[in-house]
Amino acid sequence: MEREKITVLDIKRMKEERKKIVMLTAYDTPTSQILDEVGVDMILVGDSLGNNVLGYKDTLSVTMDDMVRHVAAVRRGTNYALLIGDMPFGSCITPEIAAKNAMRLVQEGGAEAVKPEGGRRIIEVVKAILNLGVPVMGHIGLTPQSIHIFGGHKVQARTEKAIKSLLEDAKALDEAGVFSIVLEGIPWQVAQLITESVEAATIGIGAGIHCDGQVLVLHDAIGINQGFKPKFVKRFGNVREAIKNAVIQYKEEVEKELFPTEEYSYSLREEVVKMLKNIKG
Ligand code: KIV
Repeated sequence: MEREKITVLDIKRMKEERKKIVMLTAYDTPTSQILDEVGVDMILVGDSLGNNVLGYKDTLSVTMDDMVRHVAAVRRGTNYALLIGDMPFGSCITPEIAAKNAMRLVQEGGAEAVKPEGGRRIIEVVKAILNLGVPVMGHIGLTPQSIHIFGGHKVQARTEKAIKSLLEDAKALDEAGVFSIVLEGIPWQVAQLITESVEAATIGIGAGIHCDGQVLVLHDAIGINQGFKPKFVKRFGNVREAIKNAVIQYKEEVEKELFPTEEYSYSLREEVVKMLKNIKG
């Protein structure tokens, strides 16, 4: 059967039909090709690009230019999944600036939706982007761009006041018209409450099983980044180890002249080999 391109309407339908939504991050073409081949529903070019590829300690240094370049790279490897680009820190200072930046992710990068961080505080930003005709995915809870306000990577919405406030954020985003909301770093009971209270599809990361879908940062899930191991990260592979072992073997074979053998070398025809002697003199 011919595979169909996933749209925001499919994501909403999946919530209605209680079919789990699968999302992962990618930052480059070959990785996005793999995710697309496997049938991941949504690919997020997250600003976690900063920690996982660019060598920053957090996401705060990632720029719009970084995001546009990597969204475009992922676009080139993605045919079926819905492609979402993160709005990096500082890209949503005003609704007008946010709309302009969202337009860049769509026009220059090929994103089909964008994800700014925040709830009621950024509701005018969300509306300005939606007014352009660009679908918006919300992101609330432990939003990494606000780590300095949270005082680090701390689980959010643990008190009655904080739970009510987060629920209000989710409802405001839902009413504004986001198609989906990432819920990050919150107790599963709160994620369940929000999931049952909004029409938008909730995507959990550190938010338990009751969300409409799940996202992980691929580099955490496959063990490329092993320095970050919060409770919610399950390791589904050990790619760092696989790369390391391959590099160790390559180094050893080069040093011992085991590589490249004839199998991996080009050769001249016999008569040209004879000519070589004359050329040598
Ligand atoms: O930047 C990112 O990868 C994200 C996910 C953690 C949802 O925002």
